[in-house]
Amino acid sequence: MKKVILGLFFLFISLSVQAQRIAIMGALDQEIAILLDSMKSSKKVSRGGIDFFTGKLKGKKVVILKAGVGKVNASYSTAILTENFSPSVLIFTGVAGGLHPEALPGDIVIGEKLVQFDFGQVDSTGFKVSPFRKLNGGRHEELYVEADRKLVEKSASAARKIEFVPISNRTPKVFSGVIATGDIFVSNDEKAAWLYEEFNALATEMEGAAIAHICRTLGIPFIIIRSCSDNANNHARVNFNQFVGPASVNSAHLVLGILEEM
Ligand code: ADE
Repeated sequence: MKKVILGLFFLFISLSVQAQRIAIMGALDQEIAILLDSMKSSKKVSRGGIDFFTGKLKGKKVVILKAGVGKVNASYSTAILTENFSPSVLIFTGVAGGLHPEALPGDIVIGEKLVQFDFGQVDSTGFKVSPFRKLNGGRHEELYVEADRKLVEKSASAARKIEFVPISNRTPKVFSGVIATGDIFVSNDEKAAWLYEEFNALATEMEGAAIAHICRTLGIPFIIIRSCSDNANNHARVNFNQFVGPASVNSAHLVLGILEEM
């Protein structure tokens, strides 16, 4: 009897360890394409209308999914992911609009902190961002959600070893800092300047802070990796179409590097 109980115990432990995959998420097909192509023994499982691809990347068990664009899609995908796969870690990869004057197309931004720039209130003095209350009420959460410290360090270390795809003959630079998220594709000089000044944000995108918020609630270590496809300025639409390809590749290469460091 003792042996059976012990056997069941070890079976349970090994099953729960097996279940723990590293989740890798992108918003667009392009953002996850080379990761899917590099994956060994890939299997597709569909849950809640989302296709999850399980397999191995750099020897690590992973689950890869396309979250869709915007905070609602990202939140939905994260909820379905966590309910079905209980990932040990979540890595987001994709493109962003660079806000720092030197964050040009192809450059990498490692998200140390994420903030939702469009959650708040409007009164006669204008729009003010406000933090969320905890899900069950009570006190406010911190406005900026911090990524996992160790993953930030691993990302920076991996980035030093990678040769990123150059754009316009320029070797991409690597930045670490704040990423500002909102349900807006920013293609406007003034809005881009506001995001940089108000939040000290290096880049803007449409999913990161929503995923970060859920990971904070559930206690899942996460990191948001972005490569700039544009500068969120008046030319952003044109630049996005030009550079979404190479920027997606740069971000995905960094994810492969992070997996090697883990
Ligand atoms: N993703 C890539 N570029 C972006 C931009 N300019 N605004 C929001 N999300 C983006």
